[in-house]
Amino acid sequence: MSINQFAKDLIERFPLGFVATVTEDGMPSLSPKGTFFVLDDETIAFADIRSPGTMANLAHQPKTEVNFIDIWLRKGVRVFGTAHAVERGTPEFGELYPKWEEAFPALADRIRAIVKISVERVRLMTTPPYDDGATEEQMVELYKSKFSEIYG
Ligand SMILES: Cc1cc2nc3c(=O)[nH]c(=O)nc-3n(C[C@H](O)[C@H](O)[C@H](O)COP(=O)(O)O)c2cc1C
Repeated sequence: MSINQFAKDLIERFPLGFVATVTEDGMPSLSPKGTFFVLDDETIAFADIRSPGTMANLAHQPKTEVNFIDIWLRKGVRVFGTAHAVERGTPEFGELYPKWEEAFPALADRIRAIVKISVERVRLMTTPPYDDGATEEQMVELYKSKFSEIYG
């Protein structure tokens, strides 16, 4: 399934994806990864820097869902797919690595693998106030003021 332009733009602006996996004994696991890129129309990927649990879970069950949220617009995308780890030292890792090296120079040495996710389905989601007629401008204004209350 192709990743539409709305989802691509959102992931580019808010590349923090929450990756859902399942442990070997069937427990859910949710873990944030801030190094996501859209690689092409059907693939997203993140860097494994310090994610032993997620990596172990994906090794036995590669199906995953990743959620990305634009916290200002209060819109998001749910991406469903199958993960495949490209390990450091392989030719494919060498091809992918420069993208992360350029974006995260201070972390790049610690990248153990690039995890590619072949996307099977994308669902858009919005916060319920949109159901009552809220506009994007109103949502952004509201959350800007909440943000400035917290962080000044
Ligand atoms: C905002 C945020 C972004 C993060 N991004 C990444 C990432 O891109 N890659 C990574 O390996 N760890 C990342 N981490 C760290 C892992 O999520 C963290 O070490 C987590 O405990 C790993 O758990 P897991 O092994 O169950 O995935 C991030 C953490 C936070 C809070």
